[in-house]
Amino acid sequence: MRNNLSAWTVSEDHFPSFGSIKEKFKFFVRYAILAPSGHNTQPWVFEVHEESLNLYADRTRALPVIDPDDRELIISCGAALTNLIVTMKYFGFEPEIIYFPSDSDNDLLATIKVKARDYQPTDADKIYFKAIPNRRTNRLPFAEEIIDGITLQKLMAAANDDKDVRFSVVEAGGLREEMTKMIELGDRTQSQNKSFCRELAQWVHPNRTSSKDGIPGYAFGMGDLISYGSPFFIGNLNWGDIQAGRDRNLVKGSPVLGVLESKDNKPIDWLKTGMTLSKLLLRACSEGIAASYLNQPLEVPELFDKLRELINTNYYPQMIIRLGYGKEVKSTPRRDVEDVIKLV
Ligand SMILES: Cc1cc2nc3c(=O)[nH]c(=O)nc-3n(C[C@H](O)[C@H](O)[C@H](O)COP(=O)(O)O)c2cc1C
Repeated sequence: MRNNLSAWTVSEDHFPSFGSIKEKFKFFVRYAILAPSGHNTQPWVFEVHEESLNLYADRTRALPVIDPDDRELIISCGAALTNLIVTMKYFGFEPEIIYFPSDSDNDLLATIKVKARDYQPTDADKIYFKAIPNRRTNRLPFAEEIIDGITLQKLMAAANDDKDVRFSVVEAGGLREEMTKMIELGDRTQSQNKSFCRELAQWVHPNRTSSKDGIPGYAFGMGDLISYGSPFFIGNLNWGDIQAGRDRNLVKGSPVLGVLESKDNKPIDWLKTGMTLSKLLLRACSEGIAASYLNQPLEVPELFDKLRELINTNYYPQMIIRLGYGKEVKSTPRRDVEDVIKLV
């Protein structure tokens, strides 16, 4: 019987070598859906045609309070798009990507066509692909071990692959301390926003949930018993100070804190940011490096401009990411591929 973690058992041995192109696309989507997404909403739909695939944003899965413009929703779809492309390349299919191909339908984020079927995957393609089933968001404290310069260079190369997106490391010192204060302020502000708490509570589940989306308590380090009460705590208790203290410690113990930024702040930039995010996370994962997010200042409108000013950038900060060596954590649920695919 399929359970809500069975998506993670996908294996390259299941590739339908003799199947139709539609069957192959369906297989590629099995890797796409392992991408991270805000609150694990998995806000994507893949429409499979004879020789192409359309990636749609599923705005019925939007988070109107934390993400009123669907910015993070489209970043999530971008991450799924990288997983899809990397998988196609690994199996010898060279993709041609047309971004936002429709003037009338802004849910259609990209059309992916097969350009050639004899593509030779690069070492980078192979590294990214192999990491897809192993990547997790890891919100636990990291080990004290630093990330050495050579390894960091590899991550920076992956995260600066698109000319319009860049990842900058925030060095320890004054700036990092000011950013930590903003993250803490973000935690306190979000915890006092009833609508934010109600929205989050809908997506956080007990550890033994059978739900195929949302975040089980274990992903926040909760035991089984506490996790049963988590939706209630989030919705009813003032947890801002606790979370702020926790996040301060997480930043302090993270060898790398960085900001992923885009040159502009439109849907195409969000999609490209998500594509780069996935590359960074997969490259990190391939080196045994875990990641999690401290996006709070970017999700509270009054803090967004302050953060931009603080880091003195003319780019648009999209994600705040911590990287380091962590203990292994469990995967989170995914919907079945049949739930997100439309065969046309
Ligand atoms: C655009 C985006 C924003 C996210 N923001 C946060 C965040 O602010 N805090 C957090 O703890 N996790 C955040 N996440 C991580 C998701 O909650 C996580 O990807 C999801 O629960 C699925 O779990 P997995 O990454 O382990 O597969 C974000 C992920 C994405 C793609």
